[in-house]
Amino acid sequence: MKLQHVYEAQQFTLPLLLELFERADALERIVKRGGTRDYRHKIMATLFYEPSTRTRFSFESAMLRLGGSVISTERAQDFSSVTMGETLEDTIRVVNNYADVIVLRSNEVGGAKRASLVSSIPVINAGDGKGGQHPTQALLDLYTIYKSAQTIEGVKVAMVGNLADGRTVRSLAYLLGKFDRVKLYFVAPPALQMKPDILEYLSRHNCWFTLESDMKKVLPEVDVLYVTRIEQEVLDKHEKINREIASSYFVNESVMQSLPSHSLIMHPLPRLSEIDPKVDGDQRAAYFHQTYNGVLIRMALLTSLWEG
Ligand code: CP
Repeated sequence: MKLQHVYEAQQFTLPLLLELFERADALERIVKRGGTRDYRHKIMATLFYEPSTRTRFSFESAMLRLGGSVISTERAQDFSSVTMGETLEDTIRVVNNYADVIVLRSNEVGGAKRASLVSSIPVINAGDGKGGQHPTQALLDLYTIYKSAQTIEGVKVAMVGNLADGRTVRSLAYLLGKFDRVKLYFVAPPALQMKPDILEYLSRHNCWFTLESDMKKVLPEVDVLYVTRIEQEVLDKHEKINREIASSYFVNESVMQSLPSHSLIMHPLPRLSEIDPKVDGDQRAAYFHQTYNGVLIRMALLTSLWEG
C-alpha cells in the first residue's frame, strides 16, 4: 500500500480498497486462530481529543491481536500537554519518538491532515471535528457491504439523518463514489442535507445520487439503509426540525416491512432513538457486526501502512 498517512477517504483508490479487503479477510483467518505476534516490536499511540468507544477500542484490539503494544490518552483535551498550550504539531513531533503509528481523533476539521504534515510515522484520522471525515469508519462500512454482497458495484445505499455534520457518511460517500453503477440516496431534512463539496465530488465522478426528505419513498429500492443520529443539539439549533420531524427518520418494525429482505441496516453507533432495539434481532441489522469488521479492517490498515 502506497499511503503514508490516512486523513481522508479520497486517498483510497479502487485497487487499494480491494487490497485492503483481501488483507482483512486473511487477517480474519489469523484472528480465528488466536492472532499473531508478528508485530510485537510495534507501538501504536492513540491520541483522542474527543470521546470514543468503538474507534479507540477497535484500533487497540487490532494492535493487540497483531502482537503489538498500545500507549494511549483517551481524553487528550484534559490530560495531555494541550492543557498547557502545546500545539497539536508539537505533540505529534514528540509522540513520533514513542510510537510507530499515531491514531488521532481531533476535535478540529483537518486536524489529522495537519498532524500528518509534521509526522514521520503514519497518522491515521480516527474522526476529525464536526463535518470532517472518519475514513476508517467508512472503510469498515464498505467492507461490511462487500462481505455481505461480495461486490460494491451497483449497490444502492440510502444515508439517513444528519448528513451535513456526519463525518462517517461524508467519508462513506467519497468511497462509494469510486465504484461503478452505485446509487446514493441522501435522506434528510433540507437543513441537514449532504454538503455541496460531496455532491460536487460525486457529480465529477459520474456517481448517481438524489436528495430526498421522505425516507419512506426510498425504502423499497435500497440495498443498504445507513442510519445516523440527529442529535439534541441539532434539534436545538434548527427551529424547523422538531422531534416529530426527526422521528420520521427512525427505523422501527414498520420501516423494516418496507425494506427488501436482502438489505442491510447499518449505523456507525452509538445510536440514540433512531433504531428501535426491537430491530436488533432482524437478520438485516448489521450494526453490531460492523464493529467486529472494524477490528479486521483496522488490522489490515495498520499492517498495510507498515509494509508499504
Ligand atoms: N463509530 C464511532 O466512531 O464510534 P466511537 O465514537 O465510539 O468511536
